[in-house]
Amino acid sequence: MDKNRIIIVGGGVIGLSIGWRLAKGGREVILFDRDRAGRAASWASAGMLTPLAEVRFEEEGLLRFGLEGLRRFPEFVAELESDIGRDTGYRPDGVLLVGITRDDVEYLRFRHAYQRDLGLPVEWLSGVQAREREPHLAAQISAAVWCPEDHQVDNRLFIDALKLGFQKAGGTLRESTPVESIEIQGERVRGVRVHNEVQSAATVVLAAGCWSRLIPGLPGAVQPPVRPVRGQILRLKMTADLRLDTMVWYSRVSTSAVAYLVPKDNGHLVVGATSEEMGYETCLTAGGLFELLRTAYEAVPGIYDLPIVETTAGLRPGSRDDAPILGKTPVEGLVMATGHYRKGILLAPITAYAIAELIFTGQTPDAIRPFGIDRFLS
Ligand code: GLY
Repeated sequence: MDKNRIIIVGGGVIGLSIGWRLAKGGREVILFDRDRAGRAASWASAGMLTPLAEVRFEEEGLLRFGLEGLRRFPEFVAELESDIGRDTGYRPDGVLLVGITRDDVEYLRFRHAYQRDLGLPVEWLSGVQAREREPHLAAQISAAVWCPEDHQVDNRLFIDALKLGFQKAGGTLRESTPVESIEIQGERVRGVRVHNEVQSAATVVLAAGCWSRLIPGLPGAVQPPVRPVRGQILRLKMTADLRLDTMVWYSRVSTSAVAYLVPKDNGHLVVGATSEEMGYETCLTAGGLFELLRTAYEAVPGIYDLPIVETTAGLRPGSRDDAPILGKTPVEGLVMATGHYRKGILLAPITAYAIAELIFTGQTPDAIRPFGIDRFLS
């Protein structure tokens, strides 16, 4: 077995970020992806770094981790950009959470009170104040919560930067190379099997998103409880007459429909996303896109005439409690980094820093202690 080699299974934003940190730390790292690295959930995302806007009731541990992830994002992308000499489209934009009907506004008010109780820097706006901030909002918007400290990154530039950074730091990227099994002997990982040959390594990091529990060779106790949650998402092309400067998020309470609109520097307006439990099916549906566009149109009617550039769907890796699964497992040398659900891009840097520290020192950093797989073991 090769004592110094580290194998990463899965080349999404999580696997690539960890790989980059480890390769920069001087380790021999091989990353296997079943397809093209970064082209699954990470590619389909909108790149929102929005722990304040997306906080959900009674998820304060995850909020703290998200806020730490947001705090460390700028240093991570600054180092990456300087390594490769390319931009990642990181923008400190802010999000407007908007409401139209009475029930939208009641719910927004309740969430706003919760955000304030948590000490988050968010601001209640009337409809008029919201339109002063973003003039393209519909006249029907009657209230909003402004979250100025939420940011965004261009997820696709970020992915391509990570791929380049990883390889430039000496990492080996093996695409279109599915891992056939994780090789475990006794209580210890020995490597992985690809093309029917064992590639040995003392450390294997499982970062295969919603496919993580399907990789053969994992004993039941270390199969991470993750499932695919489909998100249909589309990209429009903004025009000189309709360019948003901030992210906009509308949740229509009466139907639970959600649409967020995320403007990018290249003129794309990303409109996402559905949340559907459809197994590993990634097809687009008429109903899904219809609901998405209708909800987005209610918030920003000017999108009606914008050209559609792309429609796509990705599979978020959702765990049983919607939090990631990180760190050591009962199998020595096998490390988890999966289950990031709706927050893969936001949590990639903090995950990478923590997993690299764990591998370099053998100690689990405090930041990821609440997210071990042991919380699911009875
Ligand atoms: N973070 C937004 C989403 O997963 O749809």
